[in-house]
Amino acid sequence: MSTRWEQIALDTVGEGYAAAYAERFRRLAEDGAEVHGEATFAASLVPPPARALDAGCGTGRIAVRLHELGYDVVGVDLDASMVAEARAAAPDLDWRVADLATFDLGAVFDLVVVAGNTIPLLDEGTLAAACDRLGAHTARGGVLVTGFGLDAAHLPGDCPVTPLPEVDAAMAAAGLAAGERHATWTGDRFDDGGYVVATYRRVP
Ligand SMILES: C[S@@+](CC[C@H](N)C(=O)[O-])C[C@H]1O[C@@H](n2cnc3c(N)ncnc32)[C@H](O)[C@@H]1O
Repeated sequence: MSTRWEQIALDTVGEGYAAAYAERFRRLAEDGAEVHGEATFAASLVPPPARALDAGCGTGRIAVRLHELGYDVVGVDLDASMVAEARAAAPDLDWRVADLATFDLGAVFDLVVVAGNTIPLLDEGTLAAACDRLGAHTARGGVLVTGFGLDAAHLPGDCPVTPLPEVDAAMAAAGLAAGERHATWTGDRFDDGGYVVATYRRVP
């Protein structure tokens, strides 16, 4: 059975969606667009050197940038075709194909980044389990930062909205206390709009 992400990617892009995803960001970078907003913002929360987990790493854009900034990075994603693109782009980095709802790396990280709508793209009924696993991989005093759409205009395809209070509750149950939130990865004030960048800190 395909995952929510795979279904949406096949419906909206078709076969070869992983290569198309990587290519889109390569082109944007070549054209001079800023494609490292998430990594830059994450680095302002927990400066390098530090251990970083890119959870739902996709084709590896953020993990590669975190590595360039000086983090010891692991990238995890359930979609093998997305991870294959990441591995091709950066063969020396640590990439894992695993489900955030069940993964266990036997390690903790000072910084956990869950970007690119990975939270609403989790399969139905798996938010609590994924947050539990993310909490288990966040070091004491460590920070998790996630960014995702809160309305249809900020979500891909027919991806359903995962309300922020539900995410906050699942994170809290996993030992991750809600912190500051913003409207963008450049730190604009959150105004209850259609996109949120939310931070959580691991409590002992
Ligand atoms: C839109 S992509 C974003 C990729 C990357 N974070 C970025 O911003 O470029 C969302 C990713 O979340 C991943 N994802 C969704 N559910 C997942 C799960 N349960 N475990 C691991 N990865 C998951 C998908 O496979 C997909 O690669």
